[in-house]
Amino acid sequence: MTDVDTTPEPSPIDPAIEAALREAREAREDALLELARIPSISALPEHAPDMVRAAEWVADRLRHVGATDVEVCPTAMHPIVYGRIHEAPGAPTILLYCHYDVQPADPLELWETTPFEPFLRDDRFVGRGVADDKGHIVMHLSALEALRAVGRAPAVNLTFVFEGEEEYGSDSLYAWISGNRERLAADVAVISDTGFFEGNLPAITVGLRGIMYAQIDVELSPVDLHSGMYGGAVANPANALAGIIAALKGPDGRIRIPGFYEDVVALTAEERDEMAALPFDEEAFRAGIPVSALVGETGWTVLERKTARPTLDVNGMWSGFQGEGAKTIIPAHAHAKVSTRLVANQDPRRVFEALRDFVAQIAPPGVTVTTSFIHGGEPSLTPIDHPATQAAARSLRAVYGVDPVYIREGGSIPVTSAFDHTLGLPVVLLGFFQPACNAHAPNEWLQVDNFERGTRVIVRLWDELAGLTM
Ligand code: BES
Ligand code: MN
Ligand code: MN
Repeated sequence: MTDVDTTPEPSPIDPAIEAALREAREAREDALLELARIPSISALPEHAPDMVRAAEWVADRLRHVGATDVEVCPTAMHPIVYGRIHEAPGAPTILLYCHYDVQPADPLELWETTPFEPFLRDDRFVGRGVADDKGHIVMHLSALEALRAVGRAPAVNLTFVFEGEEEYGSDSLYAWISGNRERLAADVAVISDTGFFEGNLPAITVGLRGIMYAQIDVELSPVDLHSGMYGGAVANPANALAGIIAALKGPDGRIRIPGFYEDVVALTAEERDEMAALPFDEEAFRAGIPVSALVGETGWTVLERKTARPTLDVNGMWSGFQGEGAKTIIPAHAHAKVSTRLVANQDPRRVFEALRDFVAQIAPPGVTVTTSFIHGGEPSLTPIDHPATQAAARSLRAVYGVDPVYIREGGSIPVTSAFDHTLGLPVVLLGFFQPACNAHAPNEWLQVDNFERGTRVIVRLWDELAGLTM
């Protein structure tokens, strides 16, 4: 696909800062490798000490670039790192967000090394979190370091919020934001946790899906039962769960939970045209996964289905005997993790209630079925014409030599809607990973060139935002 030309060009940023960045290249590569060596897996309780270590690492680096009020703020779960560089009186204040937690790294046997022994080879960093999202933290720190090296401060006021629970639903952050409104006062939020489009086409994300994650538990009895002695006389929880799951979606890919689509804002014909105009190659996308075929809700393109339409998927299911050979039982219980990706203006709580009520209604007799909420996050949509979005577009253009495309992403960043709704801030989603970066998968990678250019885009962005009235 459209790969960007990587021949060196005259620098789009202040030559002194460019020189400082060149000088510090190895140091920032080491910094990313160092941060990526900390196994900050938010979902696994045994990594709680690593979460603190990663938070302290980020806090130290913030102090090192002259941030004030740096604090590793404890929460009910993992700490939030706060800090500020407010040295531009009269200029806008930017709330900058990244996350230092990562997804679990299994299956370990599919990694080239171990996930937390990151390395740099052939123009790629490889390791859990290098793209999502530690690379972005180090890009931001590097941009600040280069400014300091030439005796400058960012031309905007920066307030930093680096969280450790993004991959786990951001619950602690919601509560923390409500309790820290004054410390978070800003004109705009910049979130660096997204990527480019198709191959490596510079992009600004303007839409993210929300999420509602639930668990369905089906219980029969305290223990497994002999399937010869009891089969025919009692319900089977695994069969019951399969029936429930099967009823959630039709063969046309439509979700059958009553009311599920009620709050979905329809895509306009213009929006559909814009999406169709993006250089998205369905066949290349299929081949890159690779899967035998692409399937989904009828009536929508693949790109629409994976970014602008809601979904429902089973993430995991377990019940009964799973060893080699055979064991004749009726399982005592059966379980499924079910998630839905949501689009504007669906509300995760309302969607959960609709799922819970529907499951209760279709649950067969003879078993007890419970649906519980695990986590949720709202979808978000940003206006393309917001001056801050346009400032980001100019910064990308300056460094990459092309206008960015505006895209929706199928993933979720739960905090986006909190910045938007709770703090009333416009949000700019500016990030530099590539769609094929293996986020959440084995051998996650980040292209060094995007790391380098991304750092320069950030340097430029603070200047571009400085003159704006928002
Ligand atoms: N960085 C991703 C979100 C993302 C994915 C942005 C793809 C752009 C493209 C983020 O870290 C993430 O993975 N979010 C989770 C949220 C969930 C755990 C609440 C997700 O989308 O699964
Ligand atoms: Mn992320
Ligand atoms: Mn992620």
